[in-house]
Amino acid sequence: MKRSWIFLAFLIVISCSEPEETRELASAKELGESIAETAQRILMKNVAESMAKGGAEYAVEFCNEKAMVLTDSLSQNFEVEISRISDGNRNPKNALSETELELFKEFSENKSVIDTLISTDDQLTYYKRIELTMPTCLKCHGNPETDISSNTLKIIQEKYPYDKAKAYAIGDFRGLWKISFSD
Ligand code: HEC
Repeated sequence: MKRSWIFLAFLIVISCSEPEETRELASAKELGESIAETAQRILMKNVAESMAKGGAEYAVEFCNEKAMVLTDSLSQNFEVEISRISDGNRNPKNALSETELELFKEFSENKSVIDTLISTDDQLTYYKRIELTMPTCLKCHGNPETDISSNTLKIIQEKYPYDKAKAYAIGDFRGLWKISFSD
């Protein structure tokens, strides 16, 4: 089987680095992981609160207006860029870039790949897998005929005419957290 280039790239980076740089990379990975976890927790708490307040229709509006604002303000706090990317993206801004296609494939084909740190000349980027683990997610990302209410579906359609984020099931690989460190 073709060896994962992500790990290969990572190993090369590690083995060519000075010990100090190795430590820097290890701490970037740790920091990336804790930022992704914080972002996930805050986003989910907010979604759960708005679902409780006004159901999925209301929460879609919340996600539409607030998801980006939340990740942007967290980005400012940590002085990094935080986003979520997916091949099945709802928001066009969350699409994969050309260079992320191969990386995404690795995550999607291999469940044991949880996260990775990619180092290029001018950028350090941490990626962490997002899985659809909670039944609540299906209210907005599940089967449009059985999981998503018709009202919610209508609002999703209005806000996101190019939506590709439906028809997921529990346990599916949904996307990646992306934390970009600036120099
Ligand atoms: C109330 C509806 C709702 C629920 C519940 C919900 N989402 Fe979403 N999700 C959205 C909306 C709306 C967007 C687009 C947000 C934006 O504009 O940035 C989105 C975007 C995403 C994205 C970013 C990629 C994309 O499609 O643009 C991921 C990843 C994601 N959701 C995962 C999840 C997971 C995992 C759960 C369950 C833990 C979940 N969502 C629950 C409505 C929802």
